[in-house]
Amino acid sequence: MSLSTVIPQDCLKAVATEYFVSDNELEVLSMALRGEPILGIAKKLDLSPEAVRKRLGEVYKKFRITGAGPGKLAKLMSLLDSLHQKSLKRDNLAGAESGVVYSERSRSLPRLDWGEAPSVSVFYGRTEELDLLKRWCVDDFCRIVALLGMTGIGKTALSVKLAEEIGEQFDYVIWRSLRRAPSIENLLDDLIQSLPDDRTSYPTYNNDDRIERLLDCLKKHRCLIVLDNLESLLSGEKIAGQFEEKHQGYGKLLDRLGERHQSCIVITSLEKTKEIAFAEGETLPVRSYQVKGLDPVYAEKFLQEKQLVDRQQYEYLIRHYRGNPLALKIVSTTIKELFGGKISEFLAQKVTLVQDIRDLIKQQYERLSEAEKEIAGWLAIVGNPLSWQDIKLNSLLFISDDELFEALESLQRRQMIERNAAGFTFPPVVMEYVRNQLSDGITREIYQAIKLSKIQINMLKAYYLELKDETDDTVEDLSPNITDKIIETLGKVYRDDSVLKEKLSQLCSKIEEKPIEEIGYAAENIQYLIDQLSD
Ligand SMILES: Nc1ncnc2c1ncn2[C@@H]1O[C@H](COP(=O)(O)OP(=O)(O)OP(=O)(O)O)[C@@H](O)[C@H]1O
Ligand SMILES: [Mg+2]
Repeated sequence: MSLSTVIPQDCLKAVATEYFVSDNELEVLSMALRGEPILGIAKKLDLSPEAVRKRLGEVYKKFRITGAGPGKLAKLMSLLDSLHQKSLKRDNLAGAESGVVYSERSRSLPRLDWGEAPSVSVFYGRTEELDLLKRWCVDDFCRIVALLGMTGIGKTALSVKLAEEIGEQFDYVIWRSLRRAPSIENLLDDLIQSLPDDRTSYPTYNNDDRIERLLDCLKKHRCLIVLDNLESLLSGEKIAGQFEEKHQGYGKLLDRLGERHQSCIVITSLEKTKEIAFAEGETLPVRSYQVKGLDPVYAEKFLQEKQLVDRQQYEYLIRHYRGNPLALKIVSTTIKELFGGKISEFLAQKVTLVQDIRDLIKQQYERLSEAEKEIAGWLAIVGNPLSWQDIKLNSLLFISDDELFEALESLQRRQMIERNAAGFTFPPVVMEYVRNQLSDGITREIYQAIKLSKIQINMLKAYYLELKDETDDTVEDLSPNITDKIIETLGKVYRDDSVLKEKLSQLCSKIEEKPIEEIGYAAENIQYLIDQLSD
């Protein structure tokens, strides 16, 4: 039997939404219902047959269809048919009572509107986090819960899982991604249309009116709204957590969402906004949760999935990537494909920043202000944790203590640096990225100054390379040191160390002719490179 003639696609879609079936799963389900074989579906969708079976398996799970073999599809067909019959009866009854079948139908809203939410068919661990967040959203009636954390740490997955688990406690569940940075008008209109709106007769002149309408609904109904990727609306380059000029309206919305209503707004973001920082508190209805890396017991699963060997290296790899699921997924795929699954061979390369991870960090690094980049540079040169006093002492940035604190706080809010008892430092992959930025930048400046006589030495003058030698090497350090990398790259150009030394000496003399305030640490740095070559 083919069901496509029995159950219309819009009804199937509504039922799928109700049962948390994702768009990808629905696509496979629709084809299976049309009687297409697994192999045919796999070919059409460019998937492996296993992937198709997996998606169908998820659909069965969500409809609670048990058993084995083809009998499952038949059971599902009959369940879908009965759901369809019930919905027809409901519509007929509504039509008989109101006499306005069409408009009633067009206004009937799905209780669960998943928007572009990804399906999280595989979700490891985080039971304690989920319990805490459930308590905040359901028992404590929190109005805003912000899930914060670095790229790929699992905020989106956690938000979907949370909404799936607590959805039943709410009248309406809406999940929206803000990745494409919708205007505040568009988001508010979308939310108002997706919720029962008793104020249709009220005119809407501006965003304040829209916010009133939304709040009215959040007061009357218990709604769960997930807004994913709030950072898309935040400005880069200023300090962290401020909305871009054109998205300032979101700040006001956040302020108002913290007011009294019976709904819960879950937000995910790389950075905490200042509105949330201002309104939050452990016992207040606005709270934020720092999403950390996965517990090693669960993080291991990503490495096992790719059958990586050297189990004794699992722990090291997980620690290096701070249990970040996305980084672990990317790196285990690389190890599997390029190193035959051997972790030690991958680590022996001393380059743990594979391209995709570099792209993730680049996105974050490019948002930094000049002061934040400079602080990052010092932390990268030294390697060991630095206190703010150390940074202040060495940096040639003329900034006040307040500005320095602000920049350090901003770097923490952006998840770029970590703080421990000894001071501020980076997670290892960020360290490697910033070191590469510095060594590439400084090498370029030196090369151009030698070759083109164009003395532009912004990085060379800003940092003191020798500082690295003055610190004790306690830090777990995989990435090559900046000086070695500069010498190695320049060595490839000039081949002979004595030629390179000669070039550097000439450059040093040229730099020393300039006024001291223009050259910062540049001459000392060049001399340091010459000394390294002589060793
Ligand atoms: N607990 C988990 N179990 C299994 N997979 C997970 C888990 N958490 C995250 N993942 C997977 O890791 C990847 C990254 O997760 P996710 O997209 O949720 O990160 P994010 O913090 O939202 O990243 P971004 O800041 O880029 O939006 C996804 O493929 C996701 O499915
Ligand atoms: Mg996300």
